[in-house]
Amino acid sequence: MNYDQSPERRRSGGDGRVPETRPDARPSTAARITVTLRDGSDRMIEAAEGVTIMEAIRAAGIDELMALCGGCCSCATCHVFVAARWTSALPPMDGDEDDLLDASAHRGETSRLSCQLIAGPALDGLRVTIAPDD
Ligand code: FES
Repeated sequence: MNYDQSPERRRSGGDGRVPETRPDARPSTAARITVTLRDGSDRMIEAAEGVTIMEAIRAAGIDELMALCGGCCSCATCHVFVAARWTSALPPMDGDEDDLLDASAHRGETSRLSCQLIAGPALDGLRVTIAPDD
């Protein structure tokens, strides 16, 4: 019986070879987010720590959130409505985001630009609805 309990031995499965860490390995999920699409259907997506909610939505293949400026806070095509119970978990809105949302015909009380919201464990369970196209 082998009593070697070194971390390398345990990870190797006993043969001394340590599995390689892939440099392109996906970061772990920080938040699971429910996204309601314009047709009313829900999609559950995952977001890694530090990515924006917009990036996570786009990475999940949800193209109706256009994000034309790529997250530079200059287009408002990443407009979402945040479920009311989540608004207090979000960072405050800055002036540029507020000005862009003012230009939307669909602005609501819980409107945010998803490119300004950073995923992290505090947003695990977040629910957003993609706003209608302006
Ligand atoms: S992606 Fe353009 S403002 Fe968010």
